[in-house]
Amino acid sequence: MAKQNFSHHPTICYRPIQPCDLEILERIHADIFPIRYESEFFQSVVHERDIVSWAAVDRSQPNGHSDELIGFVTARIVLAKETEIGDLLRYDPSKPDQTLVYILTLGVVESYRNLGIARSLIRQVIKYASSVPACRAVYLHVISYNVPAIHLYKKMSFKCIRRLQDFYLINGQHYDSFLFVYYVNGGRSPCSPLELLIAVVSYMTSGLKSVAARIRKNEEKTAKWPK
Ligand code: ACO
Repeated sequence: MAKQNFSHHPTICYRPIQPCDLEILERIHADIFPIRYESEFFQSVVHERDIVSWAAVDRSQPNGHSDELIGFVTARIVLAKETEIGDLLRYDPSKPDQTLVYILTLGVVESYRNLGIARSLIRQVIKYASSVPACRAVYLHVISYNVPAIHLYKKMSFKCIRRLQDFYLINGQHYDSFLFVYYVNGGRSPCSPLELLIAVVSYMTSGLKSVAARIRKNEEKTAKWPK
């Protein structure tokens, strides 16, 4: 991946999104997403109404631009049992108030891409989710053709657990989405029969390999010292 050439060395910092970010936040969303977001959404983000967010800014920018958004991530805390992936968590009946963090939007302006900014923003979300004891996972939807985002989530060890057909309707056309999950605080999904079988087979294979290695070692010893 080509790295961006800057006339200055960017000094990227992360902070919460504030009311003064409203205009630029709306502009970047309009520029980089094929979906239009309601103004109510942006109001909720900047006023932190049920939404947590982080902004990336370049402190080395001159002329009063050093606090201007160049990237962002927005997320909402939701009750696990009310989501489509509630059934995929290791359910603890004594804790019916388990939560999840749902990533709503993530974006980096084009000239700042491939610098690891999205990765850092996602790390902030994971760190936050891990700090909430009731939280069991971070999850999100991504449109099936968004290769950079899919690579990013895979690289960050998110698990793609579902493909949802015709999830998005954009300009009259349907597109599938992938559902990615990152478990935190022991919220791993319960073992499926297939996963159990794979675990047993790999355990047996490694056991057999070590027995075979021991036999081979003994044979080598006997061959070296025949008498
Ligand atoms: N092609 C392939 N893989 C990519 C690309 C690309 N163009 N860009 C990023 N990646 C992957 C790579 O695995 C990369 O790791 P590597 O450099 O070690 O190979 C990893 O992502 C991390 O890259 P970052 O530099 O942190 O990503 P960046 O800051 O450039 O932002 C993003 C990536 C957010 C997808 C950016 O391209 C963007 O804003 N796109 C438009 C908006 C968008 O698609 N947002 C995500 C939608 S999903 C959602 O909002 C829930």
